[in-house]
Amino acid sequence: MPDAFTVLIMAAGKGTRMRSETPKVLHRVCGKPMVEWVIDTAREAGAGRVVCVVRPGDGVAEGLPEQVEVAEQREGEGTGAAVLAAREVVDEGPVVVLSGDQPLITSAELGALVEDHVAQGAGATLLTTDGLNPAGYGRIVRDGEGKFERIVETKYTEGVPPEQLAIREVNLGTYVFEAPSLFEALDEVATESGERYLTGVFPLFQADGRRVTTHLTNDATIALGVNDRADLMTAEELAQRRIIESHARAGVTFQGPASTRVEAHVTIGADTTIAAGVNLLGATSIAERCEIGPHSTLTDCRVEAEAKIFHSYAVEAQIGEGVTVGPFAYLRPGTQLRRGAKVGTFVEIKNSDIGEGAKVPHLSYIGDADVGEGSNLGASTITANYDGRKKHRTRIGKGAKTSVHTSLVAPVDVGDRAYTGAGSVIDEDVPEGALGIARPRQTNVEGYADRVEKDSQ
Ligand code: UD1
Ligand code: CA
Repeated sequence: MPDAFTVLIMAAGKGTRMRSETPKVLHRVCGKPMVEWVIDTAREAGAGRVVCVVRPGDGVAEGLPEQVEVAEQREGEGTGAAVLAAREVVDEGPVVVLSGDQPLITSAELGALVEDHVAQGAGATLLTTDGLNPAGYGRIVRDGEGKFERIVETKYTEGVPPEQLAIREVNLGTYVFEAPSLFEALDEVATESGERYLTGVFPLFQADGRRVTTHLTNDATIALGVNDRADLMTAEELAQRRIIESHARAGVTFQGPASTRVEAHVTIGADTTIAAGVNLLGATSIAERCEIGPHSTLTDCRVEAEAKIFHSYAVEAQIGEGVTVGPFAYLRPGTQLRRGAKVGTFVEIKNSDIGEGAKVPHLSYIGDADVGEGSNLGASTITANYDGRKKHRTRIGKGAKTSVHTSLVAPVDVGDRAYTGAGSVIDEDVPEGALGIARPRQTNVEGYADRVEKDSQ
């Protein structure tokens, strides 16, 4: 493999068939923009430089990761015009041309393509396959010795002889060229119905005595081009299967892969089990030996080892080692559950730090609170954190126990080992080790039943 090759990604197509205000190549496949799939693959394959061709003002450049160079296609239409736009940026060496709308290309296949190109000393190498329905693709016509002769486009089949329509091998639109001969040849390619086709360079190379060769792949899925949202669904399914399989090979069990979504940037530790109906989204990371689901959605969460999360929904939450969450918990941004903590049924937590081994088992809203280790919040303990204008913090010490139906009117502190009485509205601090009760005293009216029964006779 050569040390330096450049990958050029054509991403300036209009993509009108997507029927979207978002440029085609920024549509996401498993949470990652299509063009970023291609960029990551190029880097994995060892590309020295990655250059992306965009249309000025189309918003694609703004959506690209750093360290990707951008070339603007300011004039001309078609794949040839797209490549010409990179002329100022790319001066020499092998140039791999990829399409921003083919997200499933693999680094293994790219590496093999470049290696083959260099080994054959070719002026240009095309990636082809015979594993697809060839309809609409450019067909590869070979000479008597089986060498590449030319491409016959079959988008329109009128006038194409039957023996060429019978050809199964097609051009996948992925190539290796050499700069600067690529650009020199493109200058000579005539425009056809307003477009300059990249494929127009092959006859010019051949006339010049340069070798044009092909590299055949058996994996036709790598070449799937996304031109509308039906294609996008197919890409999504294939990419999802690929992601889940790679986690499975790394030691993760998936009980219901068909109903599981794992986005591209998610990491999962070995011996973790992901049950059916789970969505792992964004930059979520899950450590080893966790149990997630059934039916949980985690977005940008960090989950430490041996945590268990059942039927819950969490966003930007930190879930510590051995923590249990759910069923039916809602963890909002800024939630930190420390080692061994428990958050139970119908509990919502936001911007709060729940200490080691602390428990919030039932029917609570805990917002803007710090709960010390080993504390237990009784069923329906609620923080009144918002006075209608400002949010205030609640501090609960270590080993504290709030009884059922405690309202904590923030700002308020409950000391270490303190208790609250059931049904209390706590709006003053409870000192360490004290019991805070704040509810009307009970009155018993003696003989009440006798009296009402007598009255109703
Ligand atoms: C191309 C090939 C065809 C091949 C097929 C495989 C040509 C002439 N034909 O056709 O042989 O079988 O791919 O999928 O190349 N783009 C730009 N600027 C433009 C036009 C396009 O950047 O002005 C980009 C698009 O964003 C897209 C890529 O180039 O990522 C391919 O363009 P597209 O129009 O989809 O080519 P195909 O018709 O698919
Ligand atoms: Ca295409």
